[in-house]
Amino acid sequence: MSNSLLKNKKVLVTGASSGIGRVISQIFSVQGARVVAIGRDSARLAQTLDSLSGEGHYALTCDLSNPSDIEKLFDDAFRFVGEIDCVVHCAGIQKTLPLQAVKETDFDEVFGSNVKSAQFIAKSYRKKSRYNKSGSSLIYLGSVAAVCGEPAISTYSASKAALIGLSRSLASELARSNIRVNCILPGVVLTEMAEKLFSQLTNQQYELIKNKHMIGFGQPEDVANAALYLASDLARWVTGTTLYVDGGYSAQ
Ligand SMILES: NC(=O)c1ccc[n+]([C@@H]2O[C@H](COP(=O)([O-])OP(=O)(O)OC[C@H]3O[C@@H](n4cnc5c(N)ncnc54)[C@H](OP(=O)(O)O)[C@@H]3O)[C@@H](O)[C@H]2O)c1
Repeated sequence: MSNSLLKNKKVLVTGASSGIGRVISQIFSVQGARVVAIGRDSARLAQTLDSLSGEGHYALTCDLSNPSDIEKLFDDAFRFVGEIDCVVHCAGIQKTLPLQAVKETDFDEVFGSNVKSAQFIAKSYRKKSRYNKSGSSLIYLGSVAAVCGEPAISTYSASKAALIGLSRSLASELARSNIRVNCILPGVVLTEMAEKLFSQLTNQQYELIKNKHMIGFGQPEDVANAALYLASDLARWVTGTTLYVDGGYSAQ
């Protein structure tokens, strides 16, 4: 594969301080992108920045559950790099909560970080001069949990299902602005989020989930390569789709 799939592209990656978002930032930078890396933890964002190839990258902190902070974020990002070719919204949280343990604050927190953020990122990105008018891309990180049920993750599942609806409708609305909108649905990927999930499972529950991944759990690179395809011109005719990257989990 050539190392220039994202040459001259400017990409904003949320959730870049950890896991999948960090590896997306790294792989995108190897492919020639300038990265604006977003997270809340400035120390971990600085580690991401240090690990990127090439030059001209930035790190910005933002709590994405707050729409007015998102507005400021896009102002700052535009000031640093100009028009943004691609936004990968990778930030998100997962809470393992049986139904009777779900509190209103849990629901608001999960939907704030996973869904409200996604809606207002799209709104801020669409504003004049903040996206590349000759072709831009918005990528959401959903989850197979959006379409495959598991116990004790109903709030998370609902939030990820919302991203499918959001991406399809936005794909229709933003096509005339030349912005493609797609959603990746990963299975379990070995990151901090997965470690936290595993720590809450019995051995039997762990084995059950493991066996549903026919070719094993994923690595962040597996999802990053899917995002790379959707961000690149190879996917110029792809919008409004959901791309399963799940080791076969959803095929059963
Ligand atoms: N790992 C999996 O098995 C898996 C499976 C399916 C889907 N996904 C999805 O893939 C995405 C990345 O997951 P991951 O495993 O890489 O998780 P992770 O390692 O826990 O990283 C989550 C990232 O999201 C950021 N974040 C969360 N809430 C935020 C907020 N309100 N404002 C700004 N940043 C926020 C965190 O930033 P700070 O730490 O700086 O606060 C962190 O960078 C998530 O959307 C997740 O739901 C993951």
